[in-house]
Parts: sequence; structure tokens; C-alpha cells
Amino acid sequence: SRTSISQVLAGALAAGQPVTVKGWVRTRRDSKAGLSFIHVHDGSCFAPIQVVASNELPNYAGEVQRLTTGCSVSVRGEVIATPDRPQPFEIRADSVEVLGWVEDPETYPIQPKQHSMEFLRGVAHLRPRTNTFGAVARVRHTLSMAVHRFFDQRGFFWVHTPIITTSDAEGAGEMFRVSTLDLANLPRTENGAIDFEQDFFGRAAHLTVSGQLNVEAYAMALSNVYTFGPTFRAEKSNTSRHLAEFWMVEPEIAFADLHEDADLAEAMLKSVFTDLLNERADDMAFFEERVQKGVLQRLESFVSTSFERMEYTDAIRHLEGAKKKFEFPVKWGVDLATEHERWLTEEHVGRPIVVMNYPKEIKSFYMRENEDGRTVAAMDVLAPGIGEIIGGSQREERLDVLDRRMDEMGLDREGYAWYRDLRRYGTVPHAGFGLGFERLVVYATGIANIRDAIPYPRTPGSAEF
Ligand code: 4AD
Ligand code: MG
Repeated sequence: SRTSISQVLAGALAAGQPVTVKGWVRTRRDSKAGLSFIHVHDGSCFAPIQVVASNELPNYAGEVQRLTTGCSVSVRGEVIATPDRPQPFEIRADSVEVLGWVEDPETYPIQPKQHSMEFLRGVAHLRPRTNTFGAVARVRHTLSMAVHRFFDQRGFFWVHTPIITTSDAEGAGEMFRVSTLDLANLPRTENGAIDFEQDFFGRAAHLTVSGQLNVEAYAMALSNVYTFGPTFRAEKSNTSRHLAEFWMVEPEIAFADLHEDADLAEAMLKSVFTDLLNERADDMAFFEERVQKGVLQRLESFVSTSFERMEYTDAIRHLEGAKKKFEFPVKWGVDLATEHERWLTEEHVGRPIVVMNYPKEIKSFYMRENEDGRTVAAMDVLAPGIGEIIGGSQREERLDVLDRRMDEMGLDREGYAWYRDLRRYGTVPHAGFGLGFERLVVYATGIANIRDAIPYPRTPGSAEF
């Protein structure tokens, strides 16, 4: 059995008590007085623990002095209080057992120094051993649990929506195909098209871009639901904000409109950041100090200010009046680019904004058409320092309007037959949104690139590990 290093450092054991910890060596320093100071981490908290091993240990010269970064060890010893040091406790070792050596210490990729993020992406299987990626992993966990807690406490049910799907939830054609057909020898129909009837599912299938349509069906039965799982987009956006595989949190609320949707988004973001600040102070202190100055203050002000609500039409007016020269020109009808979003939230308003009621031409088919006939009840939450973090809408619950919208956008009604059923059988106003989970992690930690917010990033041209 073992005690986690987080427990030892938190003072769960009284000084003088025997303890066994297991983990990986971060550094080793030997003193002339015949002592080795070994920093061992096990990922349970940000800090490693200092193990003091003396030359009286039988394997001191043979093994302890040969320990290098990355070796795994089991240490038995006594907890010593060190109140005048940065770490409140250390362990005086009675035995140090080496569990696994590092074969070739010179070429071990994770050296005790600062590595570039690019380099670490190339060793995604070893990077969780670094300070940064250990912290990212713990923050991801804490934010995930905070998301579930938020919804659970409000009576939402977590619905597991499918990964493999035959409908394009965004209607944007950015789906990865799922198929068992032989690419070199595709079956053809009489007119030469690929015969998907001969494929595994008897029709064309894809990886989901969003669980929304499926979760809407559950909102039409359980009222308040959410889905939280992986989603996939084959968009060729090679940017620091896009992944081909990312996780999305998608609540769906029945008997609700766009304003209630915006309120839910605001409450959820504040709740999960509050939990993060409370539960991961050690990791957040690291991000503040070593990754992005000001990230803590940004989160603290995020949870304590109320979000601005702004009409899309007003956002365009403000942007047109800006002194700043934008790369992408602004006029009513354009989608907001990141530079516009950031100007609005950072320079114009100085706090998070919910932009509402976008032109229907730039939004998805399922969004509810407004009275004016040219906008839909869509909302994006814009956060200072990142831009869009959440996208959502009130859904079109009127079958005739939905059908017209699908026709306008060239979507085939048959493919969405079950989705249309929800409007035919007991339709109600409902709304929901999608939070890109990695965008949340980027925002919370201040790391620059979304590829470092997920353990194994998938981007165009890259799916290693
Ligand atoms: O705005 P999007 O495309 O909305 C939807 O998918 C809706 N079905 C959500 C809903 O209403 N249930 O995506 C939602 C969020 C974005 O705001 C962004 O945070 C994130 O998902 N996102 C991505 N994150 C990483 N990589 C990508 N390629 C992303 N595309 C969207
Ligand atoms: Mg969006």
C-alpha cells in the first residue's frame, strides 16, 4: 500500500509516522555529507515531495546515487515536519526501492529543464510527467467534475449521446466518415455512386460533430438534460483554437427561451471556475507564475462580474464605430471573427458578453427564427482573452418554420425525419448551448495553444499516439 504525496504534503500523517510513497524521480542532488535529496512526484498534487536518503542505506552507492529523472521508486520512511522550508513535510527514507530504471538517461526526453510546448507535443506519452501537463490533467479533471456537479445539483440528467451518427448536427458538412468499405474497391450503384447500402450500417455514417440533436430528444422527455463527450470536426482549421477531436458540454432545457439559456451559460461558467479556484490552488498558482501572468485575476473577475448582454446588431454598430483597424471588415451580416469578439469583450466592454440574435444566414438550421425574419435566437458567449467560448440557441420548435429553413439550406428532410418528429409530437420551446471543453481549459490555465489542453491532440496531419 502507499500514501499519496498530496496527503503527506497536506499533513494527513503526523510527523514521525512511517509512510510509503511511490512515484517518479524528478531530480536528485547529493550532498558532501552523504545525503541525497530526491524529489519524487506521483501526480496527486502539483508539488513533488523531498525524500532524504543517507549513505547508510545498503543500496546507496549501488542504486540511490544512480537515480535519474524518470526512474520509478518506492520509498519507505518517516514523515519529517519542515515548517521553515517551502514544503511543510519531507520523508527521511528507511528504504528506497527502484521499481524501474530509465534505460538511457541522456536521451530520456523529459529532462529537468524547461522544454518547449512544441517539443513536448512530440512526446505526448511522456509529457504528463512535466509540471505543466500534470497541472493541465488535474485541471481538466477538476473542471469535468465541476461541470457534472453543476448540472447534477440542478436536477439535469446526463445523457450519453452516440459517437457514430447518420445526421449532421450542424449541417456544415465537416464530418469524418465511418466506414468498413474497402477504399480500393468501393461498391457502386448502377449510376456509379458509392453504394453505402453495402456499408456496415447500411447507409453512410459519420463521427458526431455535436450531441445536440440527440440530446434534444431527451429534453423533450426529461426536461433538463446535458451531454458531455467527444465530438469531431473535419475542418481544416490549423489554429491554436481548433481541434479535430474535442470534448463538448451540451445542456438542453425544455420550456425555456434564449434568455434562460444565456443565464444558464453564465451560471455554469461561474460555478466551474469557482470550484477550480477553490480546489486546485496549487496548479493555478503555477499557471499564474509560469504560464500566464494575470490568469488568476482574470478568473476571479470572471466569477464576480455579471456578463453583458448585447444584440448582434448593436455589436456590429460598436465595431463599425471602433478606431481599431480590423483585418476582416465589419458589416451587418458577417460572422464575428476572433479579432472582433476580442475587441468587444476586452476593449469595448471589459467583461464577458453574451451576443444574441445573429443573422440567420450565418447560423445553423435548427435555430429559432425571430419575428424580424432575418435573425435567429442564437447566442455566443465571448470571454476576454479568447473570444467565443460557448455557442447556443433557442431551437426552432415550429415544424413549418424548421422545414422552410431546412429547404432554404438545402438539407434533406428525410435525413432528419426523427428530429422533425420532435416537432410533430408535443413540441415545446427549448434551448441549449455547447461549451468547447478545451476552450474552457485554455481559458482557465492561460496556456496558449488548444493542443496542450487535451492529452492527445488530433489536428490536420497529426494523430500520433
Ligand atoms: O458553436 P458550435 O459549433 O455549436 C454547436 O456545436 C451546437 N450544436 C452547440 C449546442 O447548441 N448544443 O460549437 C460549440 C462550441 C464552440 O463555442 C467552441 O467552444 C467549441 O464548441 N468548438 C471547438 N473547440 C475546439 N475545436 C473545434 N474545432 C471547435 N469547434 C467548436
Ligand atoms: Mg459557434
